[in-house]
Amino acid sequence: MGISIIGAGNVGIALGSAFVTCGEVVTFGVTNHEKYREAVAALGHAVSLATIDAAIAANDIVILAVPYDALPGLAQRVADWQGKILVDATNPLAPGLNGLALGTTTSGAEELARLAKGARVVKAFNTTGAENLGDSAYAGGKAFMPVCGDDADARRRVIALAEGLGFDAIDFGALNAARYLEPFAMAWIHLAFKQGFGRNFAFSVLRR
Ligand SMILES: NC(=O)c1ccc[n+]([C@@H]2O[C@H](COP(=O)([O-])OP(=O)(O)OC[C@H]3O[C@@H](n4cnc5c(N)ncnc54)[C@H](OP(=O)(O)O)[C@@H]3O)[C@@H](O)[C@H]2O)c1
Repeated sequence: MGISIIGAGNVGIALGSAFVTCGEVVTFGVTNHEKYREAVAALGHAVSLATIDAAIAANDIVILAVPYDALPGLAQRVADWQGKILVDATNPLAPGLNGLALGTTTSGAEELARLAKGARVVKAFNTTGAENLGDSAYAGGKAFMPVCGDDADARRRVIALAEGLGFDAIDFGALNAARYLEPFAMAWIHLAFKQGFGRNFAFSVLRR
């Protein structure tokens, strides 16, 4: 089976391109095919465009690379997700990149899980910039990619995908740890845009 990605913006295209390089087959689910036909065609023959419903149906792993506000509609589009792995790459950003619209006692990922009946929700690919999702290579070591979710098998499969992309993918535990990962994404955004780091840096974990 391949991977479905809903949304073909910065994150969707970056992940799609990286997955194809790893030999995966990718189906993009978008509403406006004309808008994305060229960008998706440029990724090669292992990639196709589909309607959102067809992309959801196509694979067991569905990555949500859409604005956070789009999640309720997408989650409720399917009455029973029947165990599909729904990978939440979103962040519930407040307007103007000035923080998060929710947090501490819940997270965007937990809210998604509440609405997506029967889905195994995994939070991943939200804590670093799209450039890093497309190409995780740094001379100084592997870039950190935390992955959390309540289903251990789903977590393992997404960790394997992230490792395939070259990340130091770390099992971050249960889905409620997304309460830490969404603010952690803000730490990357804050450094990138408010502190002048730009987009070409990544966090890494040191161990001893
Ligand atoms: N950009 C980053 O560096 C980065 C990194 C990590 C995580 N994130 C998070 O990842 C998510 C996507 O970010 P992005 O930068 O890729 O955004 P983007 O470039 O604006 O792309 C969003 C995509 O979602 C689609 N979309 C919007 N509303 C939709 C709906 N209701 N149903 C289906 N598709 C819908 C858009 O399609 P249309 O163009 O047709 O509307 C577009 O293809 C956000 O939640 C963001 O916070 C971003």
